[in-house]
Amino acid sequence: MGERRRALAVIVCLWSLISLSGAARLGSGPKQTLEVQKHLRRLNKPAVKSIQSPDGDVIDCVHISDQPAFDHPYLKDHKIQMRPNYHPEGLFDENKVATSTKERANPINQPWHVNGKCPENTIPIRRTKEDDVLRASSVKRYGRKKRRSIPKPRSADPNLINQSGHQHAIAYVEGDKYYGAKATINVWEPKIQQSNEFSLSQLWLLGGSFGEDLNSIEAGWQVSPDLYGDNNTRLFTYWTSDAYQATGCYNLLCSGFIQINNQIAMGASISPVSAFRNSQYDISILIWKVKSKMATILTN
Ligand SMILES: *[C@@H]1O[C@H](CO)[C@@H](O)[C@H](O)[C@H]1NC(C)=O
Ligand SMILES: *[C@@H]1O[C@H](CO)[C@@H](O)[C@H](O)[C@H]1NC(C)=O
Repeated sequence: MGERRRALAVIVCLWSLISLSGAARLGSGPKQTLEVQKHLRRLNKPAVKSIQSPDGDVIDCVHISDQPAFDHPYLKDHKIQMRPNYHPEGLFDENKVATSTKERANPINQPWHVNGKCPENTIPIRRTKEDDVLRASSVKRYGRKKRRSIPKPRSADPNLINQSGHQHAIAYVEGDKYYGAKATINVWEPKIQQSNEFSLSQLWLLGGSFGEDLNSIEAGWQVSPDLYGDNNTRLFTYWTSDAYQATGCYNLLCSGFIQINNQIAMGASISPVSAFRNSQYDISILIWKVKSKMATILTN
């Protein structure tokens, strides 16, 4: 998040968002096939171990220093920090800071857990399938949001906004004294009526103005058949540093987000989910700034 800029923390619930860009898909000529294969080789890093998930995903345990973030020239010499050098006061019991995520209660449950674990010094990455890329309008657009203007919230009340087919309710705060935010979000599996719809609930941090320098960090759950090829509720992150123009992506689908946890896979399904008049399940997400240009996302 940009320094000394106003930061905005938003909790957003979106329902039934219909993308407006129609159903353009990648062609399947020999040139496209080659480009798709090349992209898959770039995204799917060599695995130390692969775990078949009951929901059809393959989870690759990739050595932590082989993750996509380090393809970026700026991160070539980055030293991986296994623990944030700063954490918000009162967040953890001081005596427990040294304990790892393992010991926190209720870690996020994902279906692939029943078939194995990723070893230390690896991270679980959802393997991208050829079909995933083919559902995108182009290889370049895969894993990225469709460009759109971000509606600036207008009042401090949680409100319902219906703009160009996107309906959402938000609650937010705005100011320059915020270094992070935390939200506990109920996890649902909303029905999708057509494949270009999506539905999500997220924590959203914005910095900069609502112009070209808008930078954003988002994390939550989503149902997005276009992105994942099914109707499962999946854990996701998103970031951009230029108002969703040239930078950013979901999960680990581009260089940027560095993952250290070996138990949670971005983009993998979450289970169980809440049901009407039945058990309720939630996830907690915390995002905070540790350095001028770095933020940490913590989930449990
Ligand atoms: C939201 O907007 C869309 C198109 O702009 C419209 O078709 C729909 O009826 C609106 N929904 C509500 C609940 O106002
Ligand atoms: C997702 O839901 C839609 C609408 O309910 C359905 O038509 C489609 O077959 C489902 N897709 C999968 C992969 O289950």
